[in-house]
Amino acid sequence: MSTRAAAPLPALWEDLTFLSPLSEQRADAQAAWLAEGLGPGTVLDVGCGWGELLLRVLERAPSARAVGVDVEPLRVQEAGRRAAARGLGGRARFVTGDASGEVRDRLPPVVDALVVSGSSQVWGPPVEEGRPLDYGAALAAVRAHVRRGARVLYADAIWSRPPTPAAVAPLSGRDDEFVTLHELVELAVGHGFAVVAFGESSLEEWDAFESGFGAGVARWLDRHGAAHPEAGAVAARAADQRAAYLQGYRGVLGYAHLQLLAV
Ligand SMILES: C[S@@+](CC[C@H](N)C(=O)[O-])C[C@H]1O[C@@H](n2cnc3c(N)ncnc32)[C@H](O)[C@@H]1O
Repeated sequence: MSTRAAAPLPALWEDLTFLSPLSEQRADAQAAWLAEGLGPGTVLDVGCGWGELLLRVLERAPSARAVGVDVEPLRVQEAGRRAAARGLGGRARFVTGDASGEVRDRLPPVVDALVVSGSSQVWGPPVEEGRPLDYGAALAAVRAHVRRGARVLYADAIWSRPPTPAAVAPLSGRDDEFVTLHELVELAVGHGFAVVAFGESSLEEWDAFESGFGAGVARWLDRHGAAHPEAGAVAARAADQRAAYLQGYRGVLGYAHLQLLAV
């Protein structure tokens, strides 16, 4: 996902339901599972984006409370707006900042359910450093944050197929950035979880996710026209992303979904 130009593109939530390859159907099933075990408890979403999954949990768990944290202020602002619009503002609290840094003390220390989707890097090296994703650090931090019996939804990137040079080139350039689904499941077990369900995003979910990035660019180009001084850079950014996916990591980079029970 390269960024050649700093152009004012539409917000990602205008074209994507989630900031991960997640279908409506899978999201609703995940939200229902989390809500079922929650009762009057608290669910925490670390790296909540614009809070969509968390709000779907609250809609199904009428006496539960939710806390979401994300380092991107505009996403957190959108999460708060959505919560208020859906009458959930009184039960949802959103925090802006680094979940393992400056806002750590503003999060509940132990919760009854927890979501980490696409945000394992909160507890490991920054993505920009291109080092292997530290799933172990994330799983250990998640386990320390939940009570025994808590339901945890843990999702992140994996290799669906052995990495190819074309797939790794637009990512970190290394084969060991991610693990396989089997390796991830065993890591979860090794960090104090029982595995209730595992799976990975389909190619359709991936295509919808990657298309969502391009949709905003298409609308921007339509609105501003080809004569806009930034039009070339905006189009080039979309072309880079399409090539990275369609010629590179499509079908190789996967996204795992684990439903875990803290034991
Ligand atoms: C791949 S997105 C997934 C967002 C959301 N979980 C979803 O599936 O739609 C990862 C999110 O983690 C957030 N994030 C990254 N590092 C963070 C940190 N240190 N503290 C809090 N949030 C962080 C990003 O801003 C981003 O919104």
